[in-house]
Amino acid sequence: MKFFVDTADVAEIRELAETGLLDGVTTNPSLIAKSGRDFIEVVKEICTLTDGPVSAEVTALDAPGMIKEGEKLAKIAKNIAIKVPLTWEGLKACKHFTSRGTMVNVTLCFSAAQAILAAKAGATFVSPFVGRLDDVGQDGLHLIGEICEIYSQYDYFETQVLVASVRNPIHIVESARMGAHVATIPPSVMKQLAQHPLTDKGLAGFMADWQKTGQKII
Ligand code: G3P
Repeated sequence: MKFFVDTADVAEIRELAETGLLDGVTTNPSLIAKSGRDFIEVVKEICTLTDGPVSAEVTALDAPGMIKEGEKLAKIAKNIAIKVPLTWEGLKACKHFTSRGTMVNVTLCFSAAQAILAAKAGATFVSPFVGRLDDVGQDGLHLIGEICEIYSQYDYFETQVLVASVRNPIHIVESARMGAHVATIPPSVMKQLAQHPLTDKGLAGFMADWQKTGQKII
């Protein structure tokens, strides 16, 4: 499973990129607003921190507008993935870009029917929002299972399932079990993945015993 980080905070991206565990970055207009930075400048900087796909979202609501904005965004770097919403207009813009070899992330996917359309439009990634479905009392992970099952029936569906709106490690583990290709993860949840109280307890015990030996490795 590939790990993208869901943030426009350059310091957080740099820290995670240094671990070698990062495969890409996703941003959205809310994350850009949170960064307080100029959209084009911050995306340009992010593209220098990873060779993997960096999603940059259009804000026009009509296909011609999305195409115009997407063309500008695609010029930022080779690893830009144009992010478009899962609307009829977004699907038209998706088809435009993927048929020209530009990566597209179709975002705001909340149903299997929408995910089928994204695959038919040739999306590179489809982003089902698990956390936001959970928030309204639906089962976000159930949707990931449905999409993975449907996509696996058709060799010619090349769209990767990019699990978005991730709130906790269970979202990632269960999505990985179902074969989702990518998870885009907030930095705080990325760090949670490594944490276990028995790891901390075990390490403290080993260190205490090691001190007793009076030895040093170096
Ligand atoms: O970037 C899209 C998605 O991951 C947003 O997540 O936490 O705002 O629901 P969230």
